[in-house]
Amino acid sequence: MKEAPTQTPLWWKSGVIYQLYPRSFQDANGDGVGDLRGIQQRLDYLQWLGVKAVWISPIYPSPMADFGYDISDYTDIHPLFGTLADFDALLADIHARGLKLILDLVPNHTSDKHPWFLESRSSKDNPKRNWYLWRDAKEDGSVPNNWLAAFGGPAWEWDEVTQQYYYHAFLKEQPDLNWRNPEVQEAMLKVMQFWLDRGVDGFRVDVMWHMIKDGQWRDNPPNPDYKPHMGTYDQLLPVYSTDQPEVHDLVRRMRALLDRYTERVMIGEIYLPIHKLVTYYGVDNTGAHLPFNFQLITLPWNAATIAAAINEYEGALPLEGWPNWVLSNHDQPRIASRIGSDQARVAAMLLLTLRGTPTLYYGDEIGMRDVPIPWNQIQDPQGLNMPDKNLSRDPARTPMQWDAMVHAGFSAVRPWLPLERHAGQRNVALQRNDPGSMLSLYRRLLQLRHAERAFTIGNYTPVYGDHQLISYIREEIGGKRFLIVLNLTHRTALFRAGERGLKGTVVLSTVVGADDRDLEALMPLEGDEGIVVKLDS
Ligand code: NOJ
Repeated sequence: MKEAPTQTPLWWKSGVIYQLYPRSFQDANGDGVGDLRGIQQRLDYLQWLGVKAVWISPIYPSPMADFGYDISDYTDIHPLFGTLADFDALLADIHARGLKLILDLVPNHTSDKHPWFLESRSSKDNPKRNWYLWRDAKEDGSVPNNWLAAFGGPAWEWDEVTQQYYYHAFLKEQPDLNWRNPEVQEAMLKVMQFWLDRGVDGFRVDVMWHMIKDGQWRDNPPNPDYKPHMGTYDQLLPVYSTDQPEVHDLVRRMRALLDRYTERVMIGEIYLPIHKLVTYYGVDNTGAHLPFNFQLITLPWNAATIAAAINEYEGALPLEGWPNWVLSNHDQPRIASRIGSDQARVAAMLLLTLRGTPTLYYGDEIGMRDVPIPWNQIQDPQGLNMPDKNLSRDPARTPMQWDAMVHAGFSAVRPWLPLERHAGQRNVALQRNDPGSMLSLYRRLLQLRHAERAFTIGNYTPVYGDHQLISYIREEIGGKRFLIVLNLTHRTALFRAGERGLKGTVVLSTVVGADDRDLEALMPLEGDEGIVVKLDS
């Protein structure tokens, strides 16, 4: 038997990452939009909850065409959120508590109001012209190729002054940078250095797989699986506009910079199938530490599908490649709205007991659901540009529900997006002292992860799965073993523990009051029940 590992795992391997959308976490200055001082006021809560790192979506100066993902200055703070001094104070407080801070880095595109782009568009011979992707029209005046923008319409915008098109993968207010230009690479590395020197613990890199495009600008092929409910972008397969082989050189350069500092982390936002996703770890793990694994978001909530995906992922990871899992984020419907509030409890147990780093989206820990936004209050450009497709991301970005006070304790004034109608019943204050609440379940799962190394450094071994159940063992070599059985349906199920020689005690159940019982040979599970069992041997 191998010796038990004695080393302490790195923080981003053992800790849980908490994503917060800064506009919606806590408003301290009474303008209806969250801010940095608000986040600082809520650090006690995050510490009590038991997460290790906070990832904050963009807080830089921005015209807010895409709510901060259109940056006009990479090295300052938007006045809406505060000042650099507020940022330093927040970071110092985070570190004083032993927590970590991860910033969003948006290297693929800037705002069209960024000075780099203003220069670039000013004339064809401007020194920054080649910092962006400018192309001539075809002879008939049409766009250079068929590429589409993720938020609807073509990805090319005509510039009257200089008589060329520029490329934008998202809004026309978000021109893509030309990452083949070494000056662009240097400039963005300097941005990273600015924040690393200030003390941030890592970056979540926006749309990492978009950063470099086909050198020949070839047309993307049609998507044979396109359905009318999908965004117009999905009409084509983005094989030439994304995931180009050269991207890995860029990722490696960024990683090399991080490696000059101690224990910093690079997370990549990448929506790709597993076999492509894992290439972002880089040769010999010189790429992203954590290429985001979105399978629990993108796959149907079905036991057989999820079990197969976990195993495929575990099998595809490179040696030493560290896994990670995500249930929700600011671009996707919330987990409780996708699979229902009861199954969201099972999902929480899955997220926090799988091998790898979990990322928890603010509000999921109290079971927040997507909030219906009246048409005239929709703010998200993705929703506004494709009104017939229900693609607005606002419903998953609503203010955090802290208590039963006015505006749920988020703000003294009417918030920028409406609150959930049930905020008075679904909030932190109520759930904190209710042992049956979602918040209590999350907290207990987090405590279990802290207490038992099997959940952080332990092996993962699949046990059994069918059309209802997923089960696996987490085991610290030379230490404790835990069995996890999850019922992904509303129907009851029996788990055949006896024939596998499994004996032990339930230490946690998603069903209130159902722990502290023995694992039976034919173990009955309620619908929507998940259990963690401490095995006898
Ligand atoms: C991915 C971000 O998560 C999303 O919110 C944003 O709209 C796009 N990138 C464009 O930056």
